[in-house]
Amino acid sequence: MANRFEGKVVLIIGAATGIGKAAALAFAKEGAQLVLSAYRTPPDVVDEINAAGGVASAVKLDVGDEESVKSAIATVVERHGRLDVAFNNAGSLPVTKPLADFTSEEFEHTLRVDLKGTFLAMKYEIQQMLKQGGGSIINTGSIVSVVADPGMAPYVAAKHGVLGLTRGAALEYAEKNIRINTLAPGLVETPMTARWLADPGFRAVVVGQNAVHRTGRPEEIAGMVLYLASDDASFTTGGVFLVDGGQSAH
Ligand SMILES: NC(=O)c1ccc[n+]([C@@H]2O[C@H](COP(=O)([O-])OP(=O)(O)OC[C@H]3O[C@@H](n4cnc5c(N)ncnc54)[C@H](O)[C@@H]3O)[C@@H](O)[C@H]2O)c1
Repeated sequence: MANRFEGKVVLIIGAATGIGKAAALAFAKEGAQLVLSAYRTPPDVVDEINAAGGVASAVKLDVGDEESVKSAIATVVERHGRLDVAFNNAGSLPVTKPLADFTSEEFEHTLRVDLKGTFLAMKYEIQQMLKQGGGSIINTGSIVSVVADPGMAPYVAAKHGVLGLTRGAALEYAEKNIRINTLAPGLVETPMTARWLADPGFRAVVVGQNAVHRTGRPEEIAGMVLYLASDDASFTTGGVFLVDGGQSAH
């Protein structure tokens, strides 16, 4: 087993379930000191990691609230002295409907969590990484950072925006030894997609859209997160990394 994150401090925002939880477990196996954000209740995965001999703690955070994000990142630094890797993974998927049927409140909620949240997290993470001389940031976009699906225009806009924030900031901070990349998952079986995938007709349609004709498992996404976070990816910044079962090849 590689120990790429021995002595490294890793913050995961949106770590309670799904992709964030799978990444937390994978980072812990490779020696990371983890701070996992809790939006509503502390993630169970904190206890799971500590019981297995790892190092994890929780920090309360609402990613759309600037004071909350700023204070959570300050807490990481108080606890561990630095922040080597940040995985900005919080997301909120609206109900599926055509653009003209969305209310402005629904639009603003999606933008608040998926786009403004990524901006706020990056802002305070980068400030810390500049002080310590570098770091790696991974922002969770989506396959809809680069293409679109019908019925989710606000989410498509937010996830395109995540790629824009990644690219813009990657150019600004590469010389400061801060790498910033976008992770772009396809359809993954998580609490976020559970309500869609519970409908057998819908499931059949969506798994038909990729080349492997199945959903992804969160663990299959975590490997890319760890790669981008690690020194293995030292020549990688400003990129978008699709893990989508071949969906984007269509
Ligand atoms: N599951 C998929 O098919 C898929 C595909 C592409 C992209 N994504 C993206 O992957 C990321 C993880 O999603 P997931 O599928 O694992 O779902 P999930 O519901 O398990 O995870 C979403 C996480 O975001 C957190 N969160 C939501 N609102 C928050 C807020 N205001 N402040 C702080 N945290 C908040 C939740 O607590 C949870 O930990 C999201 O950004 C999602 O948009 C998912």
